Amino acid sequence: MKFTTILAGAVALAAMTAAVSAGPALKDAYKNAFVIGAALNAGQITGQDAKSDEIVVREFSAISPENDLKWERIHPAPDGYHFDIADQYVAFGQAHNLYTVGHVLVWHAQTPRWVFQDAQGKPISKDALLERLRSHIFTVVGRYKGKIKAWDVINEVVGDDGKMRQSPWYQIGGEELFVKAFQWAHQADPKAELTYNDYNIENPDKRAEALALVKRLKAAGAPITTVGIQAHYMLGEPDLKLLDETIGEFAKLGVKVALTELDIDVLPRPGNGATADVALSLAADPKYNPYVNGLPADVQQKLTERYAQVFAFALKHKDVVNRITTWGVTDNDTWHNGWPIRGRTAYSLLFDRAYQAKPSVAAIISEAQK
Ligand code: G3I
Repeated sequence: MKFTTILAGAVALAAMTAAVSAGPALKDAYKNAFVIGAALNAGQITGQDAKSDEIVVREFSAISPENDLKWERIHPAPDGYHFDIADQYVAFGQAHNLYTVGHVLVWHAQTPRWVFQDAQGKPISKDALLERLRSHIFTVVGRYKGKIKAWDVINEVVGDDGKMRQSPWYQIGGEELFVKAFQWAHQADPKAELTYNDYNIENPDKRAEALALVKRLKAAGAPITTVGIQAHYMLGEPDLKLLDETIGEFAKLGVKVALTELDIDVLPRPGNGATADVALSLAADPKYNPYVNGLPADVQQKLTERYAQVFAFALKHKDVVNRITTWGVTDNDTWHNGWPIRGRTAYSLLFDRAYQAKPSVAAIISEAQK
């Protein structure tokens, strides 16, 4: 390659980088469409990761807590709550005027075993479980009333087989427990947006049950306002036409739609495709960790196009989509570094390991400007 060609390439790249940093922030490019969020981990919430915090404040208009409002973190034992980090999370949102999301009230994972058991370790009755949940919801939602604007009330309650997930919540409390969870959250904060959140509901079988569930919950009196499509994607899966269809189908039920946990895994994965089943854990093998020394340009390009397509479909439905949140800030922190195989180098988010905007950011901004 001639030196002048290399130079031209370098100048073009420099111009692009300058355009990214001098251009509009993501949140500003999308201010007439929907809020754009990022999930924060404890380091970001407590200010230890100041570089990520700078990105959040500059680029995003919403935040979600990646782990720190989950039951095991704030209510690890029957006799007490730990609100220290959760309080700092909400204070961060208040200080920077960010749409602050609560995650999560009813989930089968990261809920301590004691919640479902009596002192002898035997399963508790439905009434006893409902009482524990009622008390948890009024304590937690009530504490942040008016500050947390949206709560993931029930999470991942449909299984990958397209049937209701047989979690302890469902086995003991049935669907009535989900209805009551929405009702109590609404009583605790009548203005909060209340979400049923799930992954893979673009998949037609799972989507059918998720749609039916929303209808049943509404008919039973659950004040559900929003369906959260988690959007844990891979480069090749799912076909994004399914996202387009799915947003349209939920819109017909009169709920808003949010993309609540968007990330795009570029790494090869054994098995059958996009999922976010936290129980999955696979053995390490170098062939599944191919980009330890950097992402090849062609893969970066595919990632950029894929992010742009997701935002393009969301923009098409901007009357019903009210938020897109990415599940993390930089590639340093994506959960894909540790799942479904530990210790990999993943590239799933919008900002790289050096805290720089990836080309996806400019591509997403240009979708909003079309
Ligand atoms: O904090 C401990 C640390 O003290 C310990 O040394 C370390 C050793 O493994 O574990 C740390 O906890 C980990 C935690 O993330 C914080 O990094 C847990 O092992 C790990 O299981 C946990 O993973 C989280 C996962 O939920 C758990 O279910 C991910 O960070 C989080 O991104 C992920 O988020 C979920 C959403 O809540 C729901 N939808 C799917 C999404 C992705 O799985």
